[in-house]
Amino acid sequence: MAVVDLSGKVVVITGGARGLGAAAAQAVVDGGGRVLITDVLEAEGAETAAKLGDAARFLRHDVTSEADWQAALEYAVAEFGRLDGLVNNAGISTGQFLEHESVEHFRRVVEINLVGVFIGIKTAIPLLRANGGGSVVNISSAAGLTGLALTAGYGASKWGVRGLSKIGAVELAEAGIRVNSVHPGMTLTPMTAPVGIQAGEGNYPGAPLGRVGVPEEIAAAVVFLLSDAAGYVTGAELAVDGGWTAGLTVKYLTGQ
Ligand SMILES: NC(=O)c1ccc[n+]([C@@H]2O[C@H](COP(=O)([O-])OP(=O)(O)OC[C@H]3O[C@@H](n4cnc5c(N)ncnc54)[C@H](O)[C@@H]3O)[C@@H](O)[C@H]2O)c1
Repeated sequence: MAVVDLSGKVVVITGGARGLGAAAAQAVVDGGGRVLITDVLEAEGAETAAKLGDAARFLRHDVTSEADWQAALEYAVAEFGRLDGLVNNAGISTGQFLEHESVEHFRRVVEINLVGVFIGIKTAIPLLRANGGGSVVNISSAAGLTGLALTAGYGASKWGVRGLSKIGAVELAEAGIRVNSVHPGMTLTPMTAPVGIQAGEGNYPGAPLGRVGVPEEIAAAVVFLLSDAAGYVTGAELAVDGGWTAGLTVKYLTGQ
């Protein structure tokens, strides 16, 4: 289902081999755009791109590497002729109580989830400028809007992504580059599968809508922000979380 018009647009999506990134890639193609999926998962990434046909490509890309970033964005322009959008989606989510989190693990999570986003935006700026503007969508998290237990490195990185998005929005508006953050709540993907969440109404009482999200629901927000329909939207933080960060329901508070 095409929810927005992305015809003519070329978008790079990191961590697009599976999960939210793969759903976003599908939505870009459904909207008439073309997409370069990047990931460290080579077989899954190639398979995801192949399913999308000629409007998609895959390239192995580690978001912590400056050289990989340069190669990925140049490849997108070489294959498709331009760059209009960047979705910084790649991320890892594992965590510990703050007092048990190792410094090494904290650094690793921040390196991928936050430094990777910084390098991506920085590398994309000249190409987006040359394009006359564009849209950067950074996938933060509901954990970037609240203090969530067991997410020392992850939560800190997602708050960082939220802040970096604001800075990008303010600095890059003059170049016609919009920068926004999306904050998914609990969504069914390979990342959250180990938590044991189930799809379906009533299965997630912590969220006012009472259920976890599906990747297509996050993708719909991403492609809106990529599209010209969001032409006056920059520096925004869009929660797509079933109301989880809005507050607590009576049912949740009282258990009835
Ligand atoms: N699923 C959720 O409930 C949820 C909620 C909030 C935010 N998010 C965020 O959404 C994004 C996508 O998560 P997902 O749920 O689809 O998880 P996922 O694990 O299915 O997908 C993440 C992808 O990122 C890739 N990746 C990891 N390290 C990388 C690196 N160094 N370079 C390139 N790619 C790398 C992985 O290989 C994987 O394909 C993440 O940033 C995550 O933090 C997810």
